[in-house]
Amino acid sequence: MTILQAQDLTVRFGGLVAVNGVSFGIEPKEIIGLIGPNGAGKTTLFSMMVGLQRPTAGSMHFDGQRIDGRRPHVIARQGMTKTFQNTALFPEMTLLDNVTTAGLLRHPLREARALAVDCLDRVGLKQFADIDVDDLTFPQRALGEVARALATQPRVLLLDEVMAALTPMEMDGVIQTLRELRDRDGLTLVVVEHHMRAIMRLSERLLVLNFGKLIADGSPAEVSQNEEVIKAYLGGDHAQHH
Ligand SMILES: Nc1ncnc2c1ncn2[C@@H]1O[C@H](COP(=O)(O)OP(=O)(O)OP(=O)(O)O)[C@@H](O)[C@H]1O
Ligand SMILES: [Mg+2]
Repeated sequence: MTILQAQDLTVRFGGLVAVNGVSFGIEPKEIIGLIGPNGAGKTTLFSMMVGLQRPTAGSMHFDGQRIDGRRPHVIARQGMTKTFQNTALFPEMTLLDNVTTAGLLRHPLREARALAVDCLDRVGLKQFADIDVDDLTFPQRALGEVARALATQPRVLLLDEVMAALTPMEMDGVIQTLRELRDRDGLTLVVVEHHMRAIMRLSERLLVLNFGKLIADGSPAEVSQNEEVIKAYLGGDHAQHH
C-alpha cells in the first residue's frame, strides 16, 4: 500500500517554477534518496510535503488522505515531519530540552520529556541529554536533529542535509542509525544529501530532481547509469555542490 502519493506537484515563485509537475509514490518503510543539483527544488518539495509551502498545482495524498494545503502541525500530527536545512538545534539549550520541545506536539510536558529521553536513546545519545547543544560534536548534533524530529512521532521522516557537516566515517554512523529506525521502528525515510557515497549507501531508491523536474526514479544502480542524470551533474549551469 502506498503511504505517500504526489501527483503533478508544482510550486511557482513568481516566474520561477521551483517544482514542476512532479509525481511519485512511496511505499511504507522505503528509504528514498532525493537528489539533484543546488536549486533543483528538493527543499521546496519537502516544504510542500509538510505543509510549509502550498503547491500551485497538483495534489499530495498521505495514507490515502489528501494533505496538500493542510497546515504544518496538522500534517505533523498525521505523522510526517521534516528537519530544517541549515537550522540547527537551539545552541544554548540542552539536548534534552531541544527534543522535549518537539514532543509537545502530542504530549504535555512530563510525557514529552519522557518521550524525548526515549528518542535520544533510539539515536544513541541518551548519555548526552543534559549537554548544551553548543558542546556537542557535529555527528551528535546531526543525530540530535533526528531525535528532535522523532519526538513528533512520525511515520514518514524527511531529512534535509542532516549529514552535511560530517566526515565520511561520521556519516556511516548516522546511516547505521537511520537504517535501524527503519528496520526496528518501521519508519519511512526520504533523505536529501549531496554526498553521493552516503546517499548511495543508504538509499534503496533514488528520486532525481533537476530544475524542478523529476528526471529519474529508480535503484541507485539504475539512476547512476541514467544519461540525463549524469548530464545534470556534469552540466555547468549549477553552482558548486555543497
Ligand atoms: N521562498 C522562495 N521564494 C522564491 N524563490 C525560492 C524560494 N524558495 C526557493 N526558491 C528558489 O526555488 C529554487 C529551488 O530551491 P530549493 O531550495 O528548493 O532547492 P534545493 O534543491 O533544496 O537546493 P540546495 O541543494 O541548494 O539546498 C531555487 O531557484 C530557489 O532560489
Ligand atoms: Mg535545499
